[in-house]
Amino acid sequence: MARLEVTETFAGVRLPGHLHTQESLALAGAFQFRPSDVLLVTYPKSGTTWVQEILTLIYSAGDPALVKTIPNWTRNPWLEHVYFKELPQETNRPRLLTTHMPQQVLAAALRTCKPKVIYVARNPKDVAVSFYHFHKIANFLPDPGSFSDFLQHFLDGTVHFGSWFQHIKGWLGCQEKLGLFFITYEELHQDLQRCVERLSAFLGCPLQPDQIASVCQHCSFTSMSKNIMVNHTLLSPEIIDLSKGSFFRKGITEDWRNHFSPQQSELFNQIYQKEMGDCCLSVVWHMD
Ligand code: A3P
Repeated sequence: MARLEVTETFAGVRLPGHLHTQESLALAGAFQFRPSDVLLVTYPKSGTTWVQEILTLIYSAGDPALVKTIPNWTRNPWLEHVYFKELPQETNRPRLLTTHMPQQVLAAALRTCKPKVIYVARNPKDVAVSFYHFHKIANFLPDPGSFSDFLQHFLDGTVHFGSWFQHIKGWLGCQEKLGLFFITYEELHQDLQRCVERLSAFLGCPLQPDQIASVCQHCSFTSMSKNIMVNHTLLSPEIIDLSKGSFFRKGITEDWRNHFSPQQSELFNQIYQKEMGDCCLSVVWHMD
């Protein structure tokens, strides 16, 4: 299924037709969760692949066998992707699921059964930069044009996957109701070991110090960028063209400083303030 030029619109959000159909999106909205499920929620480019790796490693007690042999889209599949319905659902392990969907799409499904929900957020200026570069290698996304054009679309919420602001506000709006575990890309950078400990405690999967050390070792940027199960080298260049850039691009915080002009930064901050001013977000990213 290529559909590289197709765009689907669902819940007001534009999505790549290569990965989504109206049927796959409707199935996601009607998904039957189980209390043992773990749902990882992110806006794209926020550290999804990193946390998928961490979750698999936590449930494997630090043993890298699974992360080295099964692609992340099979072991931590996206609920809304076309291939999801073909994956085996019967397992005696907790199902590790991923989604980029806005909260309202899954609201009904999450009301009936409460899986463990983890939301990973990243400084939106860095999300915009990472997403811009990803558009250049992902042939299922539109040509991003100049960084300036792309940034305007990102701020307007007209990029594929919709508005970053609506996404985070929607999910944080039901943080209490869902018992949602919130963590940032920046915290993972600052103290990975502490984050692994917090996540494993939330999941009810306490680990020994040597197991935590193994999780941290196998989910480092260096290890993951060499792991063919996550670095996208398994995909055809027609889908992800790695001759134009890497999926594991820089893996740093505040790369936005190398891309934004002072005017772009100022405009972004104004919109951020307007959109997020009354949101109960306790993290403060470095926006200046
Ligand atoms: P950059 O493009 O800024 O390098 P996602 O998985 O949500 O698509 O996010 C991809 C971003 O997370 C990329 O950011 C990628 O380099 C970064 N990333 C993935 N694994 C990482 C790791 N182990 N350490 C640091 N950054 C990581």
